Amino acid sequence: MRIIGVILATLLAQQASAQLADVDWWKTTTIYQVYPRSFKDTNADGIGDLKGITLKLDHFVDIGIGGLLLSPVFKSPMKDFGYDVSDFREIDPIFGTMVDFEELVQGCKDRGLKLVLELVPNHSSDEHVWFTKSIAREDPFTDYYTWRDPKGLNASGHPIPPNNWLSVFGGSAWEYNKEREQFYLHQFLAGQPDLNYRNPRVTKEMDDILGFWMDKGADGFRLNAMPHLMEDQTFPDEPPSNDPEFTPDQWGSLSHIYTTDLPELYSYVFIFRKVIDSKQEELGRQMVMMVEAYTSLENTMKYYGDEYIEYAHFPFNFEIITNVNNKTTASELKAIIDRWQNALPSGAWSNWVIGNHDRRRVASRFGRDFSTAVVIMGQLLPGTAITYNGEEINMEDTWISWADTVDPQGCQAGPEFYEKFTRDPVRTPYQWDDSAYAGFTTANSDKPWLPVNDNYRELNLAAQKLEENSPYAIYKKLTAMRKDMNAVRSGQLGTSTVGDDIFVFTRYLQSADEKNVLVVVNLAENEVNADLSGVPTLKSGAMITYHVGVNSSYTSGQELSPSSVNVPARGSLVFLYTNAASTTVLASLLLVFSVILSLLH
Ligand code: GLC
Repeated sequence: MRIIGVILATLLAQQASAQLADVDWWKTTTIYQVYPRSFKDTNADGIGDLKGITLKLDHFVDIGIGGLLLSPVFKSPMKDFGYDVSDFREIDPIFGTMVDFEELVQGCKDRGLKLVLELVPNHSSDEHVWFTKSIAREDPFTDYYTWRDPKGLNASGHPIPPNNWLSVFGGSAWEYNKEREQFYLHQFLAGQPDLNYRNPRVTKEMDDILGFWMDKGADGFRLNAMPHLMEDQTFPDEPPSNDPEFTPDQWGSLSHIYTTDLPELYSYVFIFRKVIDSKQEELGRQMVMMVEAYTSLENTMKYYGDEYIEYAHFPFNFEIITNVNNKTTASELKAIIDRWQNALPSGAWSNWVIGNHDRRRVASRFGRDFSTAVVIMGQLLPGTAITYNGEEINMEDTWISWADTVDPQGCQAGPEFYEKFTRDPVRTPYQWDDSAYAGFTTANSDKPWLPVNDNYRELNLAAQKLEENSPYAIYKKLTAMRKDMNAVRSGQLGTSTVGDDIFVFTRYLQSADEKNVLVVVNLAENEVNADLSGVPTLKSGAMITYHVGVNSSYTSGQELSPSSVNVPARGSLVFLYTNAASTTVLASLLLVFSVILSLLH
């Protein structure tokens, strides 16, 4: 009998580890977006740098991260803080040198961390040599960008743009160039001319750039702003959106049917994927390709490819960022999560993103308590988890005055509207400790490029390391669960609601003795006593063990009946449970093994 037990246990363990060995590194881990300007400054100029990231690499190991996602560090005049690139193969001196980059790669390697780069293929900087040569109509650069003749001249003799297209940052998407006597398209800043992907040479340039960075040690890319890659070649005016929230020169005032989500853009996603796959084969290193696309759910799913061809490994899932807010009810939350999971093409890998450098911080969107609930969801829902720097300590947005505003999206909106559009508040320096400037910089006379949040004396990493149930401590427990628990890595998802305010999800495996996960989220402003015994994936009579949570009165390891669970206001609790094997399954397994044993004799 004991022998059978041992064989059974060994076989089950082998099966589990074989399953894990098969999965790609980016699937089961957390990818952490570092915004380099604000992470750690080592040369006292008030701006973060590559050496700073290398210096802090142990932080990522400490909090259980598997891969870094580095926002752009390429050479740039910084009109859009690095998203306007003047040389795609150089490191900007503000961030350091190529040697610093190589040291970062080595430091990551030494710690088993992956390094993924963020890159926007849609445009370069107007200071890129391609653009200078394109202005001069120097071949082969003449058509590297989208140039159009003026529609005519207005009453005061100024050239009229080819159509009504608007820049995401506001104002016309066309800029007149006197030298070439034509307008060029820029869907973002005038300093960010759109590259023309209808020219195969441009595609080849971008392919080579991706290859260059993978040769340098990058483990993949997040390709940004992908919906903007292609535009309608007949350049028709776009219709009004009739959204009263926007003034006529704001991007939201038009419906972007000719400048975003064009069907042909997806074949470029495939082209980039091929480059990444062939480098993966050549270098023997597993790469990841992720996509940033703010678009409809239907269009987002197209980035996965179709049943025959896989495009991106995954497009970022912005459902929590764009559709969940403080007014969301439990049943709405369930519907949003189910809708995403159900929309996934078969075999597609899920992911959950809760914040980034473009959107308000989780803690500011939801408040401190509920933001931890959102972090818990981001970590324990199926697929890759993405963290934006600071989320692991619950950093909040920093209010920035108009005078201190530097983000072009804020600046272009003007003093009246800047607070609605500016992204500066989410980009302020990381709060390491309670020393001057939160330990971000040693700059004396030079202040950090953006003000440090005033709350840094109490809200910082060092303080949270000393606190028992701090956001940092909870975060570490969650990433450990991703590492240790098969149910989190590959378990199925069950979602349900209890009453009006409680959203519940489980991550469970069919195999009987595996530990499963039960997450209970209270969306109400008051404590709720919930009866969870009807949760479909919980076997009747099963007990649940409290593991981690926000403001809970339970202690870790405490066992309780699911029929009466106190969930604190806006709180979120994580329990573990097993659905012990049914006797019939066990009996048949034992029967199979006794037959094997008798055959061996
Ligand atoms: C991407 C970046 C954003 C940037 C934009 C234009 O969407 O996330 O920060 O402003 O590209 O470059």
